Amino acid sequence: MTKTGVGILGFGTVGAGVAEGLLRNRETLAQRLGVEVELRKIADLDTERDRGVKLPEGMLVRDAAEVIADPDISIVVELIGGTKTAADFILRAIAAGKHVVTANKALLAERGAEIFEAAGKAGVDVYFGASVGGGIPIVRVLREGLAGNEIERIDGILNGTCNYILTRMGKERIPFDAALADAQCKGYAEADPSLDIDGWDTAHKAILLASLAYGFYVPKAEVDVTGIRRLSSTDVQYADRLGYCVKLLARIERDGDEVEVDVGPALVPAGHMLASVSGVFNAVMVHGDLVDDMLLYGRGAGRAPTASTVIGDIGDVARNIAGGSPRYRNAISTANAGHLRVKPRGEVRSEFYIRLMVKDAPGTFGCFGTIFGKHGVSIRTASSFPFVPGSEILETIPVVIETHPARRADLEAALAEIKRSGVVRCEPVAMRIV
Ligand code: HSE
Repeated sequence: MTKTGVGILGFGTVGAGVAEGLLRNRETLAQRLGVEVELRKIADLDTERDRGVKLPEGMLVRDAAEVIADPDISIVVELIGGTKTAADFILRAIAAGKHVVTANKALLAERGAEIFEAAGKAGVDVYFGASVGGGIPIVRVLREGLAGNEIERIDGILNGTCNYILTRMGKERIPFDAALADAQCKGYAEADPSLDIDGWDTAHKAILLASLAYGFYVPKAEVDVTGIRRLSSTDVQYADRLGYCVKLLARIERDGDEVEVDVGPALVPAGHMLASVSGVFNAVMVHGDLVDDMLLYGRGAGRAPTASTVIGDIGDVARNIAGGSPRYRNAISTANAGHLRVKPRGEVRSEFYIRLMVKDAPGTFGCFGTIFGKHGVSIRTASSFPFVPGSEILETIPVVIETHPARRADLEAALAEIKRSGVVRCEPVAMRIV
């Protein structure tokens, strides 16, 4: 049986999971692939720490160059993360004629065009299945299973940390800070959780999904990203009263020549399948013109689930090598570059949830109602809920509004005018309804 040598850069959580999986399931993998995948070297600056994986003598080295230069290694697996050293190693591996497997969403979202172009020139594969959805093989499904579909829409819960926090805020009515502290205690959230809670981890994944689905590199600067850091448990509770769950959602949707790529907290109807995705789980719902709605659900992070997808990619590349041809040289097609573009955020149309803390005085409702009307924003429901504990502000009533579909730019212009009118006492809250 043909043998393919694999080297791993980074012996952290995922690196250890991949090494363990490759060593443990080696025979099963060989039977399925018809190729033997042989782990030859792992590079990490820390060669002492016990990761719970027993490696053959001499496999763990300090210097990544040893892995990249090894003539018996054809596939370099980058699991270092970050955008500087990792990029350098990937580009050096490509230049050395190695195929690359990576889980590095931040790097590909920023420098994907450069990396895939280099891979194309060198005639090598760059696989990145574990960059989106951890153990959920959504990248492969979009590339292969759904290749014959026009993708109309993708909705994703793509960050386990945020989904855990939002689930606890919704089910147990605890505030954001307490839910975040609990996520950190359980090891889901990093000590610096910014990338997750500010929405950028989800945005990197959304950029890759949108680029794959629509055949152009989505520029990071054009993606609308809002995190959950400032989300109030008051709004989670009001949303619940209206029959919604709040989720950090990536929405990707084509509208003619424009593609909306939007990341932010959104209200999902309680009966929607995505509303039942709780805790650290992720899910991606794809709507294709042929397949209709399709849902993938699973663990979006963690040692073994992420290793599962990385090993699937290694297997594919090993088969490509055995077959004599890299298949995904231009992993993200640029067929629509110059033809499709990202929809400007103000042009996005959606139903919205709005909370206004209004002055308890005659004429208040008429005032904000008139302003919404002037900007073409139509109110579908308006309710005044009792205060939730802790949110009391004297002589102020919380008014919760659901709108009919409205342009975001119109909604924002209306909210700015409402603020100027003096009828609200706090910053209005607005979230899209899916
Ligand atoms: N930190 C991410 C999450 C996993 O919580 O889902 C890596 O993208």
